[in-house]
This record gives sequence, structure tokens and C-alpha cells, in this order.
Amino acid sequence: MTLDADRPLDPTPLFVPAPSAVWLEIGFGGGEHLAAQATRNPGVGLIGCEPYVNGIAQLLVRIRDQKLGNVRVFADDAHRLLAALPNRSLARVFLLFPDPWPKRRHHKRRFIRPETVAIFARLLAPGGELRVATDHPALGRWALFHVLGHGDFAWPAQSAADWRKPPADWVETRYEAKAKADGSVVYYLRFFRR
Ligand SMILES: C[S@@+](CC[C@H](N)C(=O)[O-])C[C@H]1O[C@@H](n2cnc3c(N)ncnc32)[C@H](O)[C@@H]1O
Repeated sequence: MTLDADRPLDPTPLFVPAPSAVWLEIGFGGGEHLAAQATRNPGVGLIGCEPYVNGIAQLLVRIRDQKLGNVRVFADDAHRLLAALPNRSLARVFLLFPDPWPKRRHHKRRFIRPETVAIFARLLAPGGELRVATDHPALGRWALFHVLGHGDFAWPAQSAADWRKPPADWVETRYEAKAKADGSVVYYLRFFRR
């Protein structure tokens, strides 16, 4: 899918038949999570954003082999798509293992920052979910600070088990499998649009 001179893009008509909801995955890597969610949720329209060409190719193979009709691919920087989507047009956003940019001078490159959190708040319908996973503890704290700092998101975690355990519908990503094999702890953060 492409953007028409950065004009607003209503995502619902991209899918036939009309989807019950539209979900977005940012930085899908090899696309294993996106393809599995599309298989499990055939009534949902899924958009995946990824500029990494090898990853796009891997997802396209999955779409072909699994005959997935409910996936659309934006092969570019997700910020461009976010800017073009209308208010409340998404029911779920997945941001799974975003690049941690650990050096302080690179923190401004992190995908989660006040401007993007404000955009997520604009795009998610009430009750919609922003799902973030990371194996980078400082990035996990950063995400909590910035997402909860915005005020439009609730984080219903009651205990450590709530962020240490993956959600029931979780699909392990390639990056996650490598991180766990290296002994890393994974943080699963689910924020809900008020
Ligand atoms: C650490 S990898 C994780 C990939 C995948 N989510 C996984 O868990 O296996 C981060 C991914 O985010 C993608 N990415 C980075 N910046 C992006 C952006 N602005 N828009 C879309 N994707 C982006 C990278 O190309 C990379 O594939």
C-alpha cells in the first residue's frame, strides 16, 4: 500500500470484506507475529509497517503461502503512515521489540516518545490497545514513563506477573526467541486507551 501525497488514509476500505477492526504492527521484522495474528483473526484487517526489505519479502512469502487476504503492507517508515491515519481508526497497535537506542544521545530516535504517544492516543479508539514488548529494561521503564505520562492510557498491571507473562494471544517473535535464548527477561506491556 502507498500513501497518496501524504493525504489522509482511511484504512477500512483497504480490506474486503469490511473488517471488524484494523490493527497495526510497527516494525514487523520477519512478519511471523503479523501473519499468525492475521490467521487467528480473519475478520480483522492488519497493516504491517516495515522498511527492512528482507523482512518485507519474508512477510510476502507468508501472505502468499498462508493465503492471507487480511494483511496490507506499508514498506516504509511507520511515522509517515501514522501521520496519515484518521482519528480513532485503529483498535490495536503492536510495537514489539522496537530498537532500544541505548545511548542517551540516541534516545530521541526511540519510537516511543511524547509525540508518537500522542499520535497513538489520537489513532486508537476508546478501549483500544497499545501493546509494547521489549527485552531492554531501560526501554521498558521509558515506555511506562512516556505512555502513562500522556494520561490517555491505562496500564492495568497489578503485579509483576502481569508484565512478565505474555498475553494469552501472544505469538513469539523472532527477536524475542533470540533474546530469551540469550537469557534476557522480556517485558510485556499492555496499555489501553481510556
Ligand atoms: C529489533 S527489530 C524487531 C523486529 C520484530 N518486531 C521482532 O520482534 O522480531 C526492530 C524492527 O523495527 C523496524 N523499524 C525501525 N524503525 C522503524 C520505523 N520507523 N518504522 C517501521 N519499522 C521500523 C526495524 O526495521 C526492525 O525490523
